[in-house]
Amino acid sequence: GSVDFETSGPSRTALKLTNFSARPLKVFNTAKPLEGRRIRREAVSESMASADLAAWKKLQSHVGEIEKTHLRELMKDEKRCQSMIKEVDGIVVDFSRQRATSETVKELLALAKEAKLSEKIEAMWSGEHINSTEDRAVLHVALRAPRDAEILCDGKNVVPEVWAVLDKIKAFSEKVRSGEWVGATGKPLTDVVAIGIGGSFLGPLFVHSALDTEPEAGKLAKGRSLRFLSNVDPVDATIALKGLDPETTLVVVVSKTFTTAETMLNARTCRTWITSKLGSEAVSKHMIAVSTNLKLVKEFGIDPENAFAFWDWVGGRYSVTSAVGVLPLALQYGFEKVEQFLKGTHSMDQHFRNTPFEENLPVLLGLLSVWNVTFLGCPARAILPYSQALQKLAPHIQQVSMESNGKGVAIDGTPLSYQAGEIEFGEPGTNGQHSFYQLIHQGRVIPCDFIGAVKSQKPVYMQGEKVSNHDELMSNFFAQADALAYGKSKEDLQAEGVKESLVPHKVFTGNRQSLSILLPTLDAYTVGQLLSLYENRIAVQGFVWGINSFDQWGVELGKSLATRVRSQLNAARTQNSPVEGFNYSTSFMLKHYLK
Ligand code: F6P
Repeated sequence: GSVDFETSGPSRTALKLTNFSARPLKVFNTAKPLEGRRIRREAVSESMASADLAAWKKLQSHVGEIEKTHLRELMKDEKRCQSMIKEVDGIVVDFSRQRATSETVKELLALAKEAKLSEKIEAMWSGEHINSTEDRAVLHVALRAPRDAEILCDGKNVVPEVWAVLDKIKAFSEKVRSGEWVGATGKPLTDVVAIGIGGSFLGPLFVHSALDTEPEAGKLAKGRSLRFLSNVDPVDATIALKGLDPETTLVVVVSKTFTTAETMLNARTCRTWITSKLGSEAVSKHMIAVSTNLKLVKEFGIDPENAFAFWDWVGGRYSVTSAVGVLPLALQYGFEKVEQFLKGTHSMDQHFRNTPFEENLPVLLGLLSVWNVTFLGCPARAILPYSQALQKLAPHIQQVSMESNGKGVAIDGTPLSYQAGEIEFGEPGTNGQHSFYQLIHQGRVIPCDFIGAVKSQKPVYMQGEKVSNHDELMSNFFAQADALAYGKSKEDLQAEGVKESLVPHKVFTGNRQSLSILLPTLDAYTVGQLLSLYENRIAVQGFVWGINSFDQWGVELGKSLATRVRSQLNAARTQNSPVEGFNYSTSFMLKHYLK
């Protein structure tokens, strides 16, 4: 039967936000569209397959309308463009270069309603076990909630536990940074190697790359280094440890499960690297851990006092705002800097939860992605930051998006009758322009996210105090979006006197969609906003596609086959056992490898 329950009350956290927020927040303190709403639990679990919804069918027939219209025409309507530019807490997002009219947006919003998007968002915030195949809640938003917020999971407020870990990180990182915590030979620990893979690596690497060149963060990191070790390839360990001295190095083993083969092997490699110089006693001073599995941390030999917990309601790819990211980043930049990052994520989370869908950035962008992927048939999205400091944004979002939405069945296990998920890739502009943009301009249609900042982290001025290299970079940010949208016609080329035989090669069809995200600057706060924008947008896509965006069964088969290969390799190496039990191809290649 249906069970009525109260939402945990979005306004409760929203109203307390002023304590926590670094910048004046314009949007979410005023909007209370979800306040007091009651949701029927069954409404979420019994939603119809998305393709059967009336709005879905309407959108399918609407595709024909859009195909008749070139973006060149759509861009002439200034009222339309105005309605597709939104500003939220300093971030400006322009989606006027999407292949969409106000009618498209209206129909997408109708789809959101029919797909029960607001109920699904509330179910997430209310700690419902929406990750049904693993019977888990999805509450990474609680990791960045203010200290006095209340977010319930299985009847318990999880925010105090979150802050207990944050307080522990603050105290520990301050000890290390001040030199109060010393290594086995009494030297301060100035270098940190964070071992982890997937979600226990990509998010922290992304944020570290973004802060490394930020002036204030740079000063806070003076004299310190942070490196990452992820790949099981011994070459990666060689690179990560190159030039480091165990006496001054702290190794952080980051693994949600503490069983991941790559991470555990690298952890053992680093342990040997430390103990062979400093003796086994040194482990307690030089190795710490972040995990949900504190039992295995202890068995590995790391003092539980030096372990930092997180919880099974945090998915690996959504864990950068847990100790997974906060600990290594706090060691490098100090806890206060990382707190700014958390505040940025929280600001966008609140906007996401409390803003009507017509103004809600993660919702609008998520719906437009569904439109591009499923209705307009664009399987990929390019993430193109005009910012070198965002060089690791695309690899991080690649995991968040592709591990979340790369699914073939709906949440009830029935095969999807449409394509979900997106192929994500990207490089900072302008490097990408000299690499794969050719295909984007004249080959396949790939919706692009252009991301830039008004102010550079490191402006270099060329002509007096007026024109900086940043302007040069950003000229490309503005130009590329129009080049994709407008293209260049045969007539234009002929008018320019281009040789007739070259005309077809020089035509740009245009009509290629993009969106532009303009940050005020790139600092810890805006990096947080950007992260939350993407995380929540990806969740919106999954909710509308009707899939479970929070499990990842698709990574298991390869792992178990590798275990089988590994035991054969071990047997062949140690007992000369023959390779058997594989198909012809694998047997041939294994024998060749072992020769
Ligand atoms: O193999 C995929 C995965 O399970 C990711 O989801 C996860 O982020 C990564 O492996 C690392 O897992 P762990 O943090 O447990 O080591």
